[in-house]
Amino acid sequence: MGFEYSKKVMDNFLKPQNMGKIKNPNGIAEIGSPACGDIMHMEIKVKNNILKDIKFKTFGCAAAIASTSIITQMVKGKSLEYAEKLTMKHVAEELKGLPKIKMHCSTMGIQTLKKAIKNYKINARLIKKPTDWCPKENNNEQDHNGETY
Ligand code: FES
Repeated sequence: MGFEYSKKVMDNFLKPQNMGKIKNPNGIAEIGSPACGDIMHMEIKVKNNILKDIKFKTFGCAAAIASTSIITQMVKGKSLEYAEKLTMKHVAEELKGLPKIKMHCSTMGIQTLKKAIKNYKINARLIKKPTDWCPKENNNEQDHNGETY
């Protein structure tokens, strides 16, 4: 294929951290990558503005698994503001490089994290839902594009 992964990418791919589900998450998100069709699911537990727990599952490639594993390690125990400022560049640096063709894979992890934080803020009534048409509150249902409704 013409590209190599760093040792840190391989370590996080072969032994991903924070994979799975958490008990009673208060933020959930799912995103599908338009670039490749892969899917990322993430759950967070926020308390006093701190990401106390975070877990993910993905139907994604090695770069998506490694990127999201490192993202969860970077933000666990940190404030929501810190997590919201995370970029694909930060993730690639933390992984000691990511092939350019695989950068969108780390974007999927970041987008899912930011969407899970938004979902938490909506559930906690810190921000308003984008629309008011749905009669259910706090249901965390999502469509195939990962939009919460
Ligand atoms: Fe789909 Fe990496 S190729 S997430």
